[in-house]
Amino acid sequence: MKLTICKDAYQTCIRVAEKLAVLGAKGGTVALSGGSTPKLLFKIMREQGAERWEKLKFFWGDERIVPAESPESNYGEFYRELVASGIVPAENVFQSPYYPDTAEVLKDTALKIERSVPHSDGLPRFDLILLGVGEDGHTASVFPDNLASFNSEKALEVVKHPASGQKRITLTGSAINNAAEVLFLCTGESKSYILYQVICNRDPRLPATHVRPVKGVLRWYLDEAAVGNINY
Ligand code: 6PG
Repeated sequence: MKLTICKDAYQTCIRVAEKLAVLGAKGGTVALSGGSTPKLLFKIMREQGAERWEKLKFFWGDERIVPAESPESNYGEFYRELVASGIVPAENVFQSPYYPDTAEVLKDTALKIERSVPHSDGLPRFDLILLGVGEDGHTASVFPDNLASFNSEKALEVVKHPASGQKRITLTGSAINNAAEVLFLCTGESKSYILYQVICNRDPRLPATHVRPVKGVLRWYLDEAAVGNINY
C-alpha cells in the first residue's frame, strides 16, 4: 500500500490527474468513483485538455440508478464537465444507463464491461479503479450493512443505499480486487476518522478495509485534512 499526502484537495487531485495521464499515454480502462470528491479532479482534467485522456475508456465503480440528468448521477457530473465540453469523446464513456427495471441496468452495464474491459480469472481487470470512502466506511456502493455484496462472485451487484433506499449498481470486491491498480482519493477533515479505522485499525466491518488488489497495486491519495493528526 502506497500513501501520497498532499497539502490540499487541489494538489491531491493534481497528483491523481498525473496518475491518469500516465495511463492515458498508453491507453487503458478506468473505473471512476462517484460522489463529490472527483468533481475537482474532473475540473482539473478539463483544464488540462483532451489529449491526455483520449486513449482512456471511462467506466464507473458504482452508479446511482437515476436518470443522467439527475444531480445524483455520477455519470451526469462527468458528462457535464468533460463530455459536453468536448474534452472526452462520448464513445470512450461507458455509463450505466437508467432503466426502471434494475435487471436491465445490470445487463447493459455488464455487457459494456464484458465487451470493453480485458478479463482475467473470469473477472474484468480494470487498469485503474478510483475509489472514495464514505464516512461509514463504504466504498463504491458496498455498504457496511451489505458486506456480502463485496464478496459476491459476480463483478456487479444491484444494491440499496442503507439510509435512502436509493438503488445503485456497484462493482463488487471481486472485481475491485482484480484490478491492476486501485487508487483511493480521499480529501477533507470529515474523512480523517474513518480513514484511521480503515488504514490503521483495518476494521473488518468496513468495506473499504477489504480492498486489497490480489495481483495489483493499492494507492491512497489523501490531503492533510483527511490525514488529520494521524501519523501514518
Ligand atoms: C458514490 C461513490 C461513493 C463515494 C463515497 C465518498 O457513488 O457515492 O462512489 O463510494 O466515493 O461516498 O463520497 P464523497 O466523495 O462525496 O465524500
